[in-house]
Amino acid sequence: MLSKKKVFKEKEKENLSATYANRYFTKPISKTSIPADGIDGDVVYQLIHDELNMDGNPALNLASFVTTWMEPQAEKLIMETTNKNFVDQEEYPQTGKIQGRVVNMLAKLFHAPKSDEYIGTATIGSSEAIMLGLLAHKWTWRKKRKAAGKSTENPNIVIGADVHVVWEKFARYFDVEMRIIPMKEGHYTLSVDELKPQIDENTICVGAVMGTTFTGQLDPVQEINTLLEEIKIEKGWDIPIHVDGASGGFILPFLYPEFEWDFRLSHVRSINVSGHKYGLVYPGIGWLIMKDKTDLPEDLIFYVNYLGSEEATYTLNFSRGSSMVVAQYYNLLNLGINGYKQIMQNSLENAQYLGKKIEEMPNYHLTNTNIKLPILAFTIDSSAGYSVYDLSDKLRERGWIVPAYSLPPNAQEVKVLRIVIKENFSRDMADMLLNDIKTFSKELKTKKINLKRPQKTNNNGQINKHIC
Ligand SMILES: Cc1ncc(COP(=O)(O)O)c(C=O)c1O
Repeated sequence: MLSKKKVFKEKEKENLSATYANRYFTKPISKTSIPADGIDGDVVYQLIHDELNMDGNPALNLASFVTTWMEPQAEKLIMETTNKNFVDQEEYPQTGKIQGRVVNMLAKLFHAPKSDEYIGTATIGSSEAIMLGLLAHKWTWRKKRKAAGKSTENPNIVIGADVHVVWEKFARYFDVEMRIIPMKEGHYTLSVDELKPQIDENTICVGAVMGTTFTGQLDPVQEINTLLEEIKIEKGWDIPIHVDGASGGFILPFLYPEFEWDFRLSHVRSINVSGHKYGLVYPGIGWLIMKDKTDLPEDLIFYVNYLGSEEATYTLNFSRGSSMVVAQYYNLLNLGINGYKQIMQNSLENAQYLGKKIEEMPNYHLTNTNIKLPILAFTIDSSAGYSVYDLSDKLRERGWIVPAYSLPPNAQEVKVLRIVIKENFSRDMADMLLNDIKTFSKELKTKKINLKRPQKTNNNGQINKHIC
């Protein structure tokens, strides 16, 4: 039989082995320098896990386009491949083959001309894919100019103000002049009638966004294509279109297979799509698909042999994870065309339902009542007595993440809230959200919130370009 003292000691030991009985729970942990001695794994896990509870709930994150739910089998494959560096093709040849299969599937989905060798690559996301696509067009333009003995000094891209900030990044990082066609109040996509004067012999590419970050609308890609066909006949300039299908690339082919926005159009030479948006894969995976071999200049491809065999790469980063490439393949096989179609249809119907109900509310207006993609943006009249920012803050108190921002010039006076409907957003959730919007709008109206709050700007003084 143990003495009382001994029992107490044993109990104390037991307590101390419990994670929350550990002394680290009464001490701050190191945040800015590496601690001299490590901490027990269970304790560190719990500390970090608990700290992350301060983050928003991904399921209620209606701000992000990025996937917040995947099938358990996909998660299993992700864990099984997380220790494989994708670039080690010599060691992991199958993951490389899987990338090739996905490129083929997407090239066909986007109606690339039939080929034995479809051209494309996996990227970290649409940003890398856009940079690589535009870089290829810059190289092609330069080569043609050099061959014609003309100046290669002033390349430009022509885009609408509705493009994602990554287009501006490309222009700055890769030294290309950016010609932006501004938005107008009530018109939030590229205006084709303003396009022609911006184009000249130094235009390396025109951008068309299929599903803008700001309102989820589609740029008039067919009209842009027609204009570029006319310019080609008139001036002899063969200017490519890069389609930013970050969101729409995984929606349009399933919901509107007859709608021609892709390689069926003569000037569309490259398309990016985010696997981690409506491709339904966790972050970070994007895809760049070129129309054919001639669109990827050979001198942009790097051949390296440090990994045991000669490998061709066309990426900005060298090492990267394999998991999301594999997860994309899983989704394509698991869902098939019909599965994607059904998910996109559900999301669209929920977006349209939500949009209709919002439009019925006094002082609330959709920026676009013809919702084609499961994305909606709406304004609130100033006569309501509160702003979109007030409602966004209120919704956040309930856990909903719905961003409020002002649109780019010249529609900067228009302030919107945007909701991205993803596959795990059910009709019940839509009703709960609507209920909360109605409750808070009543509450805010009675409180008569002060509307003069400062606008949120990023460090370039531009307004909220970081929403994605
Ligand atoms: C239209 C558009 N293009 C590009 C991007 C950047 O994509 P990613 O986050 O995959 O790099 C986004 C992100 O939301 C987007 O909406």
